[in-house]
Amino acid sequence: MESDGSFKELEEAVMADMRDIYSEKVIDHFLNPRNLGQIQSPDGFGRVTGPCGDTMEISLRVKDGKIINAAFWTDGCGTSIASGSMVTELAKGKTIAEVLKITPNTILEELGGLPEESIHCSVLAANTLRESIKDYLAFKNEPWKRAYR
Ligand code: FES
Repeated sequence: MESDGSFKELEEAVMADMRDIYSEKVIDHFLNPRNLGQIQSPDGFGRVTGPCGDTMEISLRVKDGKIINAAFWTDGCGTSIASGSMVTELAKGKTIAEVLKITPNTILEELGGLPEESIHCSVLAANTLRESIKDYLAFKNEPWKRAYR
């Protein structure tokens, strides 16, 4: 059995490898994702599967035209977890008009960048947020449809 010392060394080596590739913010949002889960009976809900085959879901609670809560779920990679965590943090407290301005670049800037091969993970998060807003707006205009969800 390995001693605590060698486990610690292994952990530090893994973290050092991650720091070579990802920003501190990406690592933090991946290891401690914010808003992971689902809001029950959400006011807006989006589910998108990206070209890589991974799926993200975002659910929103909206009050007086503002996002008062947002949650995400994904079966994707670590950078999709970081992107979902960041995009839901960015959405909270914003108006619908402000949220519609969130792009993949916004997420990338806030995360301190992603490797080229992971940029599509931020696109997945931005697209899923947009779908959840579209869903909110559709049901806002036709509230009778909510009963059939
Ligand atoms: Fe599919 Fe990151 S590889 S979302």
